[in-house]
Amino acid sequence: MKNAAQTPTTTSRPLLWNTHHDQPQSRRVEVIALLNRELADVLDLKLQAKQAHWNVKGAQFAALHELFDEVAAGADEIADELAERAVMLGGVARGTIQSVAAASRLATYPAEALASDEHIRALSGALARVAHSLRNAIAVATTQEDAGTADVLTQASRSVDKLLWQVEAHVALEPRSTEPVKSLT
Ligand SMILES: [Fe+2]
Repeated sequence: MKNAAQTPTTTSRPLLWNTHHDQPQSRRVEVIALLNRELADVLDLKLQAKQAHWNVKGAQFAALHELFDEVAAGADEIADELAERAVMLGGVARGTIQSVAAASRLATYPAEALASDEHIRALSGALARVAHSLRNAIAVATTQEDAGTADVLTQASRSVDKLLWQVEAHVALEPRSTEPVKSLT
């Protein structure tokens, strides 16, 4: 009979499937963990966008209802790429709601938000956080010399930057820099 003490119970242990993929195992373990961290954030982002899509109210309802659904669809596509890249490398994609809730680094979405500007502010913050994290992840994948993963992350980064622009374009933000605008003449 198997000793219960020998039965692996942890879910954080890196689990690699046999594969002919040629990148060294140590590199793949690092990159799979990186991809799963991004995956958790992006799946959280998807649900936050759906929360906004369902609950937004106000004069801009039609446009924002549609835009927030586009953000959710965009996040869903990115999540698929990240998850499948992790599995290609021999890993396990950690996409259960429990894994996402435990691993996401996004701020908790304001569940009572109703007005357009509340949703725009909250979703912009989530998108900016994901965009920042993806940029750091590109740098890590590049350092690991995994050009394929860096490419997946770069495409994801460009998509999130675009979604952030589209959401932020619905409000006039305060300038973030206090530096005077340089003259073009
Ligand atoms: Fe819908």
